[in-house]
Amino acid sequence: EGEDAYNISPLLKNTGHVTLDPGFVNTASCRSAITYIDGDAGILRYRGIPIEQLAEKSSFLETSYLLIYGELPTQAELDDFDQRIRRHTLLHEELKRFFEGFPRDAHPMPVLSSAVSALSTFYQDSLNPFDPEQVEISTVRLLAKLPTIAAYAYKKSVGQPMLYPDNSLSLTDNFLRMTFGFPAEPYEVDPTLTKALDQLFILHADHEQNCSTSTVRLVGSSQANLFASISAGINALFGPLHGGANQAVLEMLQGIKDSDDDVDAFMKKVKNKEQGVRLMGFGHRVYKNYDPRAAIIKKTADQVLDQLAGGDELLEIALRLEEIALADDYFVERKLYPNVDFYTGLIYKAMGFPTRMFTVLFALGRLPGWIAQWREMIEDPETKIGRPRQLYVGATERDWQPVSSR
Ligand code: ACO
Repeated sequence: EGEDAYNISPLLKNTGHVTLDPGFVNTASCRSAITYIDGDAGILRYRGIPIEQLAEKSSFLETSYLLIYGELPTQAELDDFDQRIRRHTLLHEELKRFFEGFPRDAHPMPVLSSAVSALSTFYQDSLNPFDPEQVEISTVRLLAKLPTIAAYAYKKSVGQPMLYPDNSLSLTDNFLRMTFGFPAEPYEVDPTLTKALDQLFILHADHEQNCSTSTVRLVGSSQANLFASISAGINALFGPLHGGANQAVLEMLQGIKDSDDDVDAFMKKVKNKEQGVRLMGFGHRVYKNYDPRAAIIKKTADQVLDQLAGGDELLEIALRLEEIALADDYFVERKLYPNVDFYTGLIYKAMGFPTRMFTVLFALGRLPGWIAQWREMIEDPETKIGRPRQLYVGATERDWQPVSSR
């Protein structure tokens, strides 16, 4: 249309070409050595290691180390990392008081992001993004404290007393105990729960430049501290088109079960785009093939639901929806396959988590990825403050009018 159609400012004209790419579909914002995705082939690797191997053989703690420091740890390095994290799981007593201020029915995601943002006020002497020691202690504090914050948010929402962390337990067991345990009552760790949750955390741990990770990097590019950047990432994750999808999937499955609709009638609505209804947990910006994380989670869902029972009817609905979608032209033509969120909610539900905690669990898993990406961004000499351009399409110059003549 020519530049006059957009009333392009002289500044833009001087800097040459500007690309308009809504949603950054084709625009890379950085170089990264952390996560590799081939969306057409359905491949995902952290630091070069296939996700299938990590899901089967690694632990969440080890995978976190791999993402953040770039290599698998030796036993001594892993033990040291573990010990440092165990020493920092407690929250400052003053921070605990924040939880009292939120309404009882507050969604735990904004509670989580608010508490993480508040960490900046408790650790004011270690916020310099260019001091490696300060970044390191902030990294450990975040990894150690986010599960405690998440468990407190949960306890608040169900009106139960909060439990202090028990640092004889691993990160995942400690979180499960703080969530489902009661003071003065012994808590039996269920290895089935621990294994399944640890694996889900691994599968969520990084996914290159998705909405929340790009948010963490963008906020960090202004040299905002690690806590402020991660808090912003948690808010980005809250949206139903991103991390909030796991909650939306379960609500969708429950809605189908509770309504008179059968699965075919629901799919008809999706294909006719009635009131913007989408098959939640399907489709992905990058994967145009089966999401490799969904393939692993589908197997876990089968095993966990078998062992823990509960939710089988919803699993049946999910399996039927997938069966229809994979054979339907609408989904095939658009290359829409189940994504990571399609089956996770069913597992979380069987574990006893309420639907509102699902996205919090995603945040716990994604934390090491956000930290790794923030650290890579801050150490990269190519990093500049993030500042996209725009094409101005508003009014050309016009005069202000007094209110009497408007
Ligand atoms: N159900 C029905 N139709 C869909 C779906 C879906 N879940 N996803 C995409 N489509 C359709 C769109 O309507 C569009 O159709 P059209 O070409 O006729 O207009 C086409 O497929 C392309 O969709 P876009 O929205 O342009 O794809 P985009 O890459 O922008 O969106 C997204 C990706 C947001 C994940 C989308 O697939 C979606 O909304 N899925 C449901 C929500 C979801 O599961 N989100 C979690 C993503 S994974 C994660 O964040 C961890």
